[in-house]
Amino acid sequence: MSETITPAGEAVTEVKITVRPNGSLRVEGPVRLLDANGGEWNVAGKPGISLCRCGASANKPFCDGAHKTIGFESTETAPAQ
Ligand code: FES
Repeated sequence: MSETITPAGEAVTEVKITVRPNGSLRVEGPVRLLDANGGEWNVAGKPGISLCRCGASANKPFCDGAHKTIGFESTETAPAQ
């Protein structure tokens, strides 16, 4: 992880989100994961979490590998900069 200094001079640790081909969203960094009511999953101390984006996980919001069994296809790539 790297640190970025905001215009207000605050140090912020970056969070990295990787869109995995045909799979989950891998989130790495110091994040909090909340539901719509403010309830929180305990993800403290984990180096990263994988969030389901195929809709088939039995353990949402986490990926449980079900994307492989349903043949989920999604291979978006970021535009060239
Ligand atoms: S992305 Fe892995 S189960 Fe949905």
